[in-house]
This record gives sequence, C-alpha cells and structure tokens, in this order.
Amino acid sequence: MTDINKTNICKTRAWKQLAKHAQQIEKLHMRDLFQTDSQRFNSFSIEAAGIFLDYSKNRITQETFALLMQLAEDTNVTTHREVLFSGGIVNDSEQRPALHTALRSPTSASIKVNESDIMPDIHAALTRMRDISDKLRRGQWLGFHGEAITDVVNIGIGGSDLGPRMVTRALQPYADTALRMHFVANIDPADINDTLAELNPATTLFIISSKSFSTSETINNATVAKEWLVQACSTPQQAQTSLSQQCIAITAQTEKAIKFGVEASNILPLWDWVGGRYSVWSAIGLPVAIAIGMDRFTELLAGAHAMDAHFQRAPLTENMPVILALLGIWYRNFFARQTHTILPYAQYLADLPAYLQQLDMESNGKCVQRNGAPASYATGPVIWGHVESSGQHAFHQLLHQGTDWQPIDFIAVVKGQHTQAEQQRLAYANCLSQSRALMLGKQSDEIPPQADDSLTQAKVIPGNRPSNTIVLNELSPHTLGALLALYEHKVFVQSVVWNINPFDQWGVELGKTIVHDILKMLTADTTSPKKAAKIQLDSSTLGLLNYIK
Ligand code: F6P
Repeated sequence: MTDINKTNICKTRAWKQLAKHAQQIEKLHMRDLFQTDSQRFNSFSIEAAGIFLDYSKNRITQETFALLMQLAEDTNVTTHREVLFSGGIVNDSEQRPALHTALRSPTSASIKVNESDIMPDIHAALTRMRDISDKLRRGQWLGFHGEAITDVVNIGIGGSDLGPRMVTRALQPYADTALRMHFVANIDPADINDTLAELNPATTLFIISSKSFSTSETINNATVAKEWLVQACSTPQQAQTSLSQQCIAITAQTEKAIKFGVEASNILPLWDWVGGRYSVWSAIGLPVAIAIGMDRFTELLAGAHAMDAHFQRAPLTENMPVILALLGIWYRNFFARQTHTILPYAQYLADLPAYLQQLDMESNGKCVQRNGAPASYATGPVIWGHVESSGQHAFHQLLHQGTDWQPIDFIAVVKGQHTQAEQQRLAYANCLSQSRALMLGKQSDEIPPQADDSLTQAKVIPGNRPSNTIVLNELSPHTLGALLALYEHKVFVQSVVWNINPFDQWGVELGKTIVHDILKMLTADTTSPKKAAKIQLDSSTLGLLNYIK
C-alpha cells in the first residue's frame, strides 16, 4: 500500500479547491439551501443493504459533493478498496492484511494469506461456534456438579469486549434463551467481583477473549475467575473438571491459553489478519451466538456482507461508506471540527458510541502517514455520543447554541421490538426534531418581541449545524451487521484519504508496556533519593508512586 499515495494530499487539486470552496460554503445557511432546492433530500440521500442515509442536512452543494468525490479519486480510494478485499497488505507497520470482510463472506472462494487459503479455517471456526452455542442453549453444557450452565461471563477488553458486549445488548430482543450473559473488562477489581457475587460457580461458564492472551486486564480478571471456580470445588479432581468444562478461550495464542489452564479443545482461533476492533465477526462474537443463536449470528454476518458488497461495487458517488467518510473529512479538514457525535435513538444501541469510539479513534488516531512522514493535516476526530433521548435534556444545549458546532450522526430505528408503536413514533419524532432544529435554528425575527433585546438574543439559535440521519427500519441482526460494516468502511476510506494505517495501534501498545514497569516500581523502594535516581522516572510519576507508599 505504501506506494499508492505518493502525493501529499494537501497538494492535490481537489484539496486546494475544497479549501477555497469551504470559504464560500461558510457564508451559506442550510435553511436557504433547502428553500431554493425542493429536490435536496432526493439528491442527497441513499439506501444500501437495508440502511437509509439522509445526508441532505450537511453544509454541502452539488459542487462540494463533486469536489469531495474528486478527492477520493485523487487519493486512489478504489485501488485501496481492492487491496483491502483481496487480502493485500493494508497494515503496513505490521505487514499484514486486514480481512474482517472474509469473516463474513458466505462463499468459499479462496482468499490467501501467506499462500494458504483462510476460508476453510473461518468456516471451521463458525462450525465450532455453532456446536458450542447450540449445546449451551439446549442446556447440554454442564458444570462441575453436572448441572447445566446458566450464566456466561465474557472476560476481555477493547475489541475483545466492546463488540460482543454492544451486539449482545443491541440484539437482546432476539435472545431466546434462559442463559444470562455478563461482560467483564475493567482492571478495577470491582468489575469482576460484582459480577461473580451474583453467580453460582457450578453453573457459570467463562469465555476468556484475548487475541494476544497477554492483555493485563483480561489475564488478571481471568485469574480471579479461575481461582473463584477452583475454590468452589471440594476436590482437586472437581477443580480440574471445572477448569476443563467451564473455561473457553478465544485467542491467536493457543499455547498461552493452554498454559493458563484452558483445555485445548475449548480454544477457538483468531488470526493476526483480524484486528481486535474488527473481530466481532470472528469467534470473538461467541457471546452473541450464544445469546441469539448461530442462525441469527449468521444473519448479522450476512448484513455486514451486504454492506461489503455495496462498498466494493457501488460507484464512489453512490457509495454510502465513501459518502460518510468524505463528509467527515469535509468538516475535519476544511472546517477544523474536532469531534464527531454519534446519537442513536434506540435504547438497545446504548453501547454503540463506545464501540465506534474504539473503531474510529484506535484506527484513525494517527499522526504519521504510511510512508513515515508526519501528517501535516488533521486526521481522526474525537468520537463521542450517547443513547437518546436523554442527551436532549443534557448536552444538546451546547449542540444548539454552543460557540462551536460539530457534525452529528443521528441513528434512528423505525420499528421497535415492543408493542408501544406510539411511543416508538415519539422517539423517531424526537430524532427528526433535533436534526431539523440544528439545521434551521431560530432567528431574531422569529422570536416574539421582548422588552429587552438581550432577551431576544438569548433565544436566537444559529442553526446551520450539520448532521446525517441513518435510518434502520428495525434493529435486526441483518441491519446491525450492515450498520457496523458501514462504519468500518467509512473509517477505512478516511484512512486512505489521510494516507494513514488504520490497522495498527502503537500508541496503545506503549501504554501496555509502561504499565509493567510502573507496577514493578510500585512495590520497589523508590522513596530513597539514591534508589529513585537510579530509576530515572520523571518527577511527576515518581511523586505519584511515592504518594501511595
Ligand atoms: O487496547 C489495545 C488493544 O490492543 C485493542 O486493539 C484490542 O482490541 C485490545 O487491546 C485487547 O487486546 P487482546 O484481545 O489481545 O486482549
């Protein structure tokens, strides 16, 4: 991939034209754009893979759209897209492909990594997921007392937690089993302790999810879980049974999982060509399969695959991930917007903002280009958000009247999984009213005259604040799969334009290494100036270490 983008993007014709064009757009108000063009909604909306996107409430004209598309052409988005799908090296710094799309490919058409076809391994892992989830759901998976498992605890962090946690919650109405699902991620012992406090060791199954099988949060929490199981057993033999029957590992490091005490037959694979934040489609999604059944999990994969097919085949101008990506770039690079907001109007999508934070910020939070040169332009924005409609009564004030504005993705669901159709309509109405209010604002001549002009001014809402509205007819495994793949590809396209590698995370790795050194120092004698001098820590970290001694 390194060779494809040799040009500095800021020097491309499209970039320069966009910079100039932004100054003109700055002067336009969206309320006027809507007024002068009755076809605006039709021109700027698109449907793909069961997902509808209205992007008409953006600060764009047809000219903006054409220039953004030119930028995608200039940065070879189509070539990069082919490289991604065909298993080429897209993760330059680790010399790996990123083949999450292969995980949801329904065909057996061969995809090769290091000369060997990965499809048989993918399908074999899916078969094992089916066996495990079926057995658990039928009450045939037994604990050390011979009783059926009632509770499943996923222990993992980052991509080994956020994906399965979010999808399990999002698809909770499809969870047709008595099994209860739990998720433990935090290094704070309160997380695992509180979870275990409510569980019966004889009927609890642990899934230890860790691609590296060395992430300290996961290994520490898994160790607490292991001890909890063993302590509940009355004989060493029973303890052995509990470990072999009640611990499953999902990892690319089989040997480490075996050493930890997981039975080899209970280890499901992960591969180095699947990034953690792109792994919910793999065996990392086992908690989802257990909760909703493997058939439904297959529908999730099918939804993602439908979006893959759209992304792979649709021309750039009609390509939903490409459009979302370019709109994000428009605001990030030409209006210096620092954040991007995700507002799902669906309670079951409460964990989606956190999931997208990892997906986007761990992928595109990079300041170095693929060729090693510093990025002289802004890259990934801060992603934040909250499930709605509670935010309307909290932070939306700033969205409407704050000195800064930020682009927003509203995510609306038309049909709920309940019988209160009217209340569901109200949720949809709330979503639409927010995007309309942000776009329209309220000008002083629309406010009834007040005795004091300052009272009028306080009520002026500037408007012209952009948003996308993504509509799912219902929150099903299929539409959710498509939605997540949409964001994955959006992030990928942005990384291509910015010429950064979205599939590594060296910043996070640094934190992971430093923690080991700091932990050692916490127990070492650092209070004597002589010893402290040897350690060569900055005075802040040293002071904080000594503060708790
Ligand atoms: O937080 C960094 C990270 O490397 C993520 O990319 C990953 O999803 C997470 O840690 C967990 O890693 P592992 O699955 O190896 O435990």
